[in-house]
Amino acid sequence: MDILPQSNDQYGTKEYWNTRYSQETDGASFDWFKSYSEIAEIIHNLIPSRSSKILMLGCGNSKLSEEMYDDGYKNIVNVDYSAVVIQQMQKRHREVRPEMKWHEMDVRDLKFEEETFDVAIDKGTMDAMMTAKGDIWDPPQQVVEDCTKEVNEVIRVLRKKSGLFIYLTFGQPHFRKRFLDIPGTALEVKELGEAFHYYLYTVRT
Ligand SMILES: C[S@@+](CC[C@H](N)C(=O)[O-])C[C@H]1O[C@@H](n2cnc3c(N)ncnc32)[C@H](O)[C@@H]1O
Repeated sequence: MDILPQSNDQYGTKEYWNTRYSQETDGASFDWFKSYSEIAEIIHNLIPSRSSKILMLGCGNSKLSEEMYDDGYKNIVNVDYSAVVIQQMQKRHREVRPEMKWHEMDVRDLKFEEETFDVAIDKGTMDAMMTAKGDIWDPPQQVVEDCTKEVNEVIRVLRKKSGLFIYLTFGQPHFRKRFLDIPGTALEVKELGEAFHYYLYTVRT
């Protein structure tokens, strides 16, 4: 992808993502900062059962879901608020990966019943909602509300007692923990990577 926004805060708008995805060539894909091969071992350890029901939050046109599917995780439901990318991904995978589902949906307002999923994965999606201009040490109210809504929705749709939220990001703990430290759940953070550090946050219900 080489369609850069004029300013970083555009990453936080649906219009930006719809335009970006509509300008891409058919079949294009882009993975934010990590591909499946680089995180497969982590995924295998965190999700031992291939039949787990998995929610992919803000899937974009990443290959993560298809590569997980091809690795045996067949029960994946993908959501993104860009109607453009959801249509592209539906078309691309309908025949080859028929069990995978695609829905246009906002992660702040998930249209699923409580306790629908075993696992939810966010790779770079909450980050897109954090790009609003302002002080990163004291984020604007809109950012706080958006991230809180996403995390509350994720916890709601995860199975109680056995649910797992996996969040992969460059965002350092100081800027992320405040959204992920939810009473009644267990948060863990790991720093990973060599030259470029990134973080794996897990929240267990
Ligand atoms: C930085 S990209 C990450 C894409 C993919 N997860 C990856 O790892 O490559 C952010 C994606 O989240 C989507 N997104 C941003 N805010 C969203 C929201 N509130 N609800 C649903 N999708 C959202 C965007 O449309 C975009 O596809």
